[in-house]
Amino acid sequence: MQDKLIIFDTTLRDGEQSAGASMNAAEKMKIALQLEKLRVDVIEAGFPVSSPGDFAAVKAIAETVRESAVCALARANEKDITAAGEALAPARQKRLHTFIATSPIHMRKKLKMSPDEVLQAAVAAVKAARKYCDDVEFSPEDAGRSDEDFLCRILEAAIKAGAKTVNIPDTVGYNMPEQFGGLIRRLRERVPNSERAVFSVHCHNDLGVAVANSLAAVSAGARQVEGTINGIGERAGNTALEEVIMAVRTRPDFFCCDTGVDSKQLLPASRLVSSVTGFPVQPNKAVVGVNAFAHESGIHQDGVLKDKETYEIMSAEDVGWQSNTIRLGKLSGRNAFKTRLAELGFEFESEEELRGAFARFKQLADKKRDIYDEDLLMIAAGGDGGESGGWQLSGWHFASASGEKPRANLSLQKNGETQKAECAGDGLVDAAFGAINKITGAAPELILYSVRSVTGGSDAQGEVSVRLREEAKEATGHGADTDIVVASVKAYLSALARLGSAAERMHPQKSRAV
Ligand code: KIV
Ligand code: ZN
Repeated sequence: MQDKLIIFDTTLRDGEQSAGASMNAAEKMKIALQLEKLRVDVIEAGFPVSSPGDFAAVKAIAETVRESAVCALARANEKDITAAGEALAPARQKRLHTFIATSPIHMRKKLKMSPDEVLQAAVAAVKAARKYCDDVEFSPEDAGRSDEDFLCRILEAAIKAGAKTVNIPDTVGYNMPEQFGGLIRRLRERVPNSERAVFSVHCHNDLGVAVANSLAAVSAGARQVEGTINGIGERAGNTALEEVIMAVRTRPDFFCCDTGVDSKQLLPASRLVSSVTGFPVQPNKAVVGVNAFAHESGIHQDGVLKDKETYEIMSAEDVGWQSNTIRLGKLSGRNAFKTRLAELGFEFESEEELRGAFARFKQLADKKRDIYDEDLLMIAAGGDGGESGGWQLSGWHFASASGEKPRANLSLQKNGETQKAECAGDGLVDAAFGAINKITGAAPELILYSVRSVTGGSDAQGEVSVRLREEAKEATGHGADTDIVVASVKAYLSALARLGSAAERMHPQKSRAV
């Protein structure tokens, strides 16, 4: 008999804490709907007290998502819990997640509280949260570096106060798999009322073992794993959920549990998160990297042709991969475009969205003979920079010749008004960014610039990611085009638009909890 492993996704909360990964409300909603389609059990939608924008995003997700529980984070104080409870009010299934740090260094230096004060605050927070919903989760932050006896005391008290899930975070990614598994096993044995709560884990990847730690915890009896799509998150990121999901599904003999996830939605979820954040997925990334199922060596190819199982432990189709054949071209119609994207797991939310994406498909088809699934997904998710908001590129002339400084001449449009500027630079991209700054009056710091090709071939689209910083705000934008200077301009404009709308938000783990 297999146990259920609860999948708790925190892409929209801890994932959004990745430097440069801030998302706007529409992007958060898109990801939430994809997570619902993926059938994750819980979606941690945000930290409502942190900003009016985050409150509104959590509320909108609570109003819309029906199949997954919607969760909001709150530190252990009345104000946070009230904001979380109110944002969650419309949810069909809601969970309130409250936390307070328990490691000696966090209690002494950050909270300036004694262990007894922390324990009292935790109990009060769980009781306050229970006024808003039955499903309350409690986390002792930095549990991985906390005193085990104190952890047992605070977990027992939190469960007694009404917590249904107790989550053990390795907040700074310090633990090793055997050690972390041992901790979970002992906590389950030593906390007297442990059978009244689900034990959950939340691992960070500072030493590259977040997934291994989570799986060791599952072997030790944890029945909820928290993580993010593509493993994005604070610093080195969180547990990559797609890896945990496929590990337990591929090795039921070892883990004796399974999730309720529709694994075919993993790849669309990965692509959407990558496209929204602008964080590319490394090619050799397990499950969702482009090379995850590519057999390069002759011996391997020969084996796979004879029997896939010689070198494949799971099927590419089961996680959403389709054979990369050319499906659509210049003459394809709107219906074929929409149908193919639906087959790839992407559905448009409105006619307007479909119309915009189809127009961009036609533009691409004019420039590129072979349109691959990757191109379609990029267009549909707006990852080509076509939905950047703010200024849009309407015309350009780029000039580069030996012995001359490259020059870019750009026309940008906003609200029906067109402005032009010319600029020289150290390369065409630098010149184009200079021209944008002249038109928009912006002067942000460029902190990341990366290019990758969406598909193979010399006519492939280049996908550019740009991260900009202005005072305390950071934003990432991305754009794709067969011309990488044009892709760079789109990415820069998209990042600028996000920078303009990025709100200052409070960080859950950087301020005093009570
Ligand atoms: O890493 C962490 O400790 C957290 C908590 C809020 C669960 O993200
Ligand atoms: Zn975390």
